[in-house]
Amino acid sequence: MSQLANQIAVVTGAGRGIGRAVALKFAAEGADVVCVSRTAENSEKVAGEIRTLGRKAWAHAVDVTDAAAVAAAGEKILAECGRVDILVNNAGVTRDGLLMRMSDADWDTVLDTNLKGAFLFTKAFVRPFIKQRSGRIINIASVIGLIGNAGQANYSASKAGLIGFTKATARELASRGITANALAPGFIETDMTAVLKEEMKTELLKNIPLGRLGQTEDIANAALFLASPAARYITGQVLSVDGGMVMS
Ligand SMILES: NC(=O)c1ccc[n+]([C@@H]2O[C@H](COP(=O)([O-])OP(=O)(O)OC[C@H]3O[C@@H](n4cnc5c(N)ncnc54)[C@H](OP(=O)(O)O)[C@@H]3O)[C@@H](O)[C@H]2O)c1
Repeated sequence: MSQLANQIAVVTGAGRGIGRAVALKFAAEGADVVCVSRTAENSEKVAGEIRTLGRKAWAHAVDVTDAAAVAAAGEKILAECGRVDILVNNAGVTRDGLLMRMSDADWDTVLDTNLKGAFLFTKAFVRPFIKQRSGRIINIASVIGLIGNAGQANYSASKAGLIGFTKATARELASRGITANALAPGFIETDMTAVLKEEMKTELLKNIPLGRLGQTEDIANAALFLASPAARYITGQVLSVDGGMVMS
């Protein structure tokens, strides 16, 4: 039996990397998926891949930082899908730099995308979740939100904020049958980490007990678990998927 049969999922940042892997994994497990990304080209491509798996898919080009655009997309998604069961807030960016040189613009872009974007998308679906007395919210945070990282003050703050947001959401919505959890990926091989120099990757590997960088599939598997019936009694948690990098 497919774990997400008859479920409808919305995945932000589904055009590439982790979001794409989550969208495809959910579809392989029986879900119909709404793919959101900044560019129409990427979300449409992944929606096409999902349709070839025999599932329904919708593509939306939405800037998650744009409150009006997110509210409009939320209404459109609910109108075309009828309902939504799972929301994965995955869209994210980095603008790395040392604190003393970090521009206001780089701070704002990262906080607006990684944190405010999740707030706006959650807000777009919270009323229908409350009405249907069910819903799964999965926020893609980062181990960097737990331990910090030199050169990533904006990113660390956004992901730590997202973890706090997850816990508040979980407490606020638990009585309505809605769960909210965060995943904290370590270093996963995507476009986001492709920019890292080889020496940096070698250095990183020294701190990963399982001895390899993560694959998008590793995060998709954990997201599937949190979305599945097996996770019905789990809320407000942060699950690190990082090869053992951070052990609390
Ligand atoms: N890779 C890692 O090692 C790692 C580790 C920890 C956490 N994470 C988190 O995992 C998530 C996905 O990362 P990734 O590595 O898969 O990144 P990625 O390959 O760079 O893909 C990012 C996705 O987010 C979308 N996006 C970015 N800004 C957006 C905006 N303003 N509005 C709508 N969509 C937007 C992009 O849309 P387009 O495709 O249209 O450009 C793309 O689909 C992020 O939240 C990231 O912080 C990643």
